[in-house]
Amino acid sequence: MSSISVGIIRGVPVLPTLLSIGELSARSGLAVSAIRFYEARGLLSAERSASGQRRFTRATLRRLAFIAAAQQVGLTLEEIRSALASLPDGRTPNRRDWQELSEAWRARLDQRIAALERLRDDLSGCIGCGCLSLRRCRLYNGGDVAAEEGHGSRLAHAFGTPGHLAG
Ligand code: FES
Repeated sequence: MSSISVGIIRGVPVLPTLLSIGELSARSGLAVSAIRFYEARGLLSAERSASGQRRFTRATLRRLAFIAAAQQVGLTLEEIRSALASLPDGRTPNRRDWQELSEAWRARLDQRIAALERLRDDLSGCIGCGCLSLRRCRLYNGGDVAAEEGHGSRLAHAFGTPGHLAG
């Protein structure tokens, strides 16, 4: 593992202004490959040293923390990239940016929680059953999609389930 070169100013350890990818990895706890991946997906950018090596600003650490938090909420990388791109001058989210973006995420989390609660309730009726009936099973036919499409077995084919299992 790469160590971080730390300067000392008046006895206080100070990170260098620009970090190598190894230093960024050590400081963030992320694998070098993950950092390269985020860079390739447009979530991070790096300057190049005279020798062509990546050099990241210290703000990249906060950017990585933002990405990790957004992933915890369930945002896709494209959604995270879009959120970061919405900030002026490609800046790293500051406290106010964080507040605005995270408020939108809260609504998203609430929706996911509600969907999971519905799924849990549906699963409760299926535990120990195993019928996977098109008529009765809410997990198999959530929202009764099949009923809106008319009579007969359709989901069995769509899910690759043998027809005799569908009710
Ligand atoms: S498996 Fe029988 S109701 Fe869902």
